[in-house]
Amino acid sequence: MSAAIEDLPPPPSGLTLAPRGGVDAATLAAADERARHWRSPAGFAIGSDAHRDASWAMFRDTFNPYKPSVIDWPKLDAVARERLVGLPIWDIAVQTEGKARLRMRAYARAAADRVWGQAVELNAWEEWRHKVVLSHLVAAYGIALEPEPPVIEPRDTEWAYLVTGFSECIDSFFAFGLFELARRSAFFPPELVETFEPVIQEEARHILLFANWLAWHRRTMAWWRRPWFEARVLGVWAFLAWERIGLARGMDAGQAARPQDNNFTITGSKAVSDVEVSAAELMRICLAENDRRFAGYDQRLLRPTTTPGLVRLALPVLRWLKK
Ligand SMILES: [Fe+2]
Ligand SMILES: [Fe+2]
Repeated sequence: MSAAIEDLPPPPSGLTLAPRGGVDAATLAAADERARHWRSPAGFAIGSDAHRDASWAMFRDTFNPYKPSVIDWPKLDAVARERLVGLPIWDIAVQTEGKARLRMRAYARAAADRVWGQAVELNAWEEWRHKVVLSHLVAAYGIALEPEPPVIEPRDTEWAYLVTGFSECIDSFFAFGLFELARRSAFFPPELVETFEPVIQEEARHILLFANWLAWHRRTMAWWRRPWFEARVLGVWAFLAWERIGLARGMDAGQAARPQDNNFTITGSKAVSDVEVSAAELMRICLAENDRRFAGYDQRLLRPTTTPGLVRLALPVLRWLKK
């Protein structure tokens, strides 16, 4: 674990991190603000080189230079610590960040287009930083992790990026809502929630980048490749659904010694809040947070639409069930 903490290299593309100990609160606040707002000076058509360059410029300009090693983890009282340690997410969270990093890096290195290659390489580096942040957190609060299964470098790099990208689109949408719920409740101290805030916003940037990459990729690929590509996209959704159902079944059967919840972003409202919320209310919060987190970025960039779209469709049913 400590090796992973020390291993984080400088970010790619000439970006730099805030100097250790040398940053005042105002500078940090300005960097955080910059990470949430971006507008392209020029217009662009979706699928054009200008669209690709604007997506990369957004991603690079909104880079948040925080250094994981200077995060000051707040002291928790015994009850808050127990709640945190008891969340069934730590193993899966650390492993997911590690997997996302490797898959994105593999795609970035193989990408035929060097601009997207650079953007996804930076995304991979940010996943690495997430893993380091989580490693610090689990160390700070004495959370024991299972040994990590080895992650194999993917051979089909496009498939790997599609799986990671869509999976982040699903998980981030629900994480936005749960995080807001945790912020509103008194379950965790506000300093802890604030400490995690940049990580959650970074996931919004990641799926914004992915949505624009996907649209650009679709527009620019040869027409005869498109049916196969769309079949793969459907395959990815089927795989993600199967993965989530499979994990839920495995947990029901008690197969894991310490069950980890890959559906936590969908089922976790009770674990992060003392306020009773209905499924409909949680989905409403997820939708509002989804809009709020993307609001600061150029409206001409595309947003992920599938998960919020499906939830919007399901909302009347959930409201009806609540009655
Ligand atoms: Fe991440
Ligand atoms: Fe991410």
